[in-house]
Amino acid sequence: MQTYDSLLVEKGFIDEPVDPGLKLTDEINRLRKEKNAVILSHFYVEPELQDIADFVGDSLGLAQAAAKTQADLIVFVGVHFMAETAKIINPSKKVILPDLKAGCSLAESAPAYKFAAFKAQYPGHKVVSYINCSAELKTLSDVICTSANAVKIVESFPEDQPLIFAPDKNLGNYINNLTGREMVLWDGACMVHEQYSVEKIVALMDQHPDAEFIAHPECEKPVLLLARHVGSTTSLLNYIQKSAAQKFIVATESGIFHQMKKACPEKTFIAAPSVDSTCGCNDCSFMKLNSLQKLYLCLKHEQPEITLPADVIEKAKAPILRMLEIS
Ligand code: 13P
Ligand code: SF4
Repeated sequence: MQTYDSLLVEKGFIDEPVDPGLKLTDEINRLRKEKNAVILSHFYVEPELQDIADFVGDSLGLAQAAAKTQADLIVFVGVHFMAETAKIINPSKKVILPDLKAGCSLAESAPAYKFAAFKAQYPGHKVVSYINCSAELKTLSDVICTSANAVKIVESFPEDQPLIFAPDKNLGNYINNLTGREMVLWDGACMVHEQYSVEKIVALMDQHPDAEFIAHPECEKPVLLLARHVGSTTSLLNYIQKSAAQKFIVATESGIFHQMKKACPEKTFIAAPSVDSTCGCNDCSFMKLNSLQKLYLCLKHEQPEITLPADVIEKAKAPILRMLEIS
């Protein structure tokens, strides 16, 4: 017979029948108070999971919120590497994630053992790693960055310091272009941001000459070259508020539209088109594994929990704290 724990590992979330009459948001509110829990949600999760959060933000904002929380229990409504980061910053706190299988194609593109061999080919290089990576990869890094602070972090090194950037080659390439550095790039990418069609974006821009095209730096270079503004999710959200334009074509994950519409209900937001128009590729399938029911059950049982070996926590903490100091 399978144990409860092995079922959790197999499924990734608590699969327990829930009374359909139960008002999940009320239950979540009751439990979070009772357990002194904080709910941190990323901009890419479903609108109802953004609205119920104590803090909703980009990867940097979420790491900063995790660093200063007074809560006993951290519920991370996002993906695995984000919850791991919260655990590394708060080793004595319990960190839970509604679905353990909420991974990240970018983080998975850089297994630590392969990266260690890659790093060994470049003696004398320091490693800047994008936060979208495993805790193990963080232990091999000198400093972590997010899309919001990457330029600042890279520029914190002397110009003649050779650098490796991992795991996102698109963000790395974008920073190389902005800073004039020649960082060695790991060959990783995000499955959501790599699927935009330049031809279709150009056609859409022709169709909507009054629209501004904006993009996340995880997109490929030909897409970024078309963009009026490139930035993290928070930066894109700030941009649409201060721009005089009334219409935007947006190349990033679909969850961001919720905050954009809330901030500027009178403006129009169009999702940038994918190469395959039938795939729903603007949705990150990992982020979308989170649901209100899984959040409720996760809070109720305080599982699935993020656990990491003490030596990994210790080694991964230094480059994250370095990032938070510089930011
Ligand atoms: P930011 O929200 O930090 O811009 O990151 C985007 C992302 O891909 C998170 O997984
Ligand atoms: Fe990872 Fe891309 Fe999903 Fe972000 S959008 S969590 S980078 S797969």
